[in-house]
Amino acid sequence: MAVQFTHVARVADVPVGEARVFEVAGVRLALCNVEGAIYAIADACTHDDGPLGEGHLDGHAIECPRHGARFDVRSGAVTRMPAAFPVRSYPVRVENGEIAVDLGVGAV
Ligand code: FES
Repeated sequence: MAVQFTHVARVADVPVGEARVFEVAGVRLALCNVEGAIYAIADACTHDDGPLGEGHLDGHAIECPRHGARFDVRSGAVTRMPAAFPVRSYPVRVENGEIAVDLGVGAV
């Protein structure tokens, strides 16, 4: 599948150390700002569809507000149960303060 980045938001819309949820082309994304670096994961915990983008961001880990599973926002990998499967992560491109995400080739 061809790489095609879609504009999602401005970097200024995602405060450092926090996550924000955006919906693009029917996909709900949690954009996470870790010390100025932007990462994009699906806004749905793989344990029970918890709203990951509303979770607490601790370094590169985001904690699901529903039952406390943790994921690495860089890869989507699970770092704490009860989730057993990684969350989808998406390639991100930042140019001139604008965030674009490739919705087509997310990992997982
Ligand atoms: S829904 Fe996320 S930990 Fe259960």
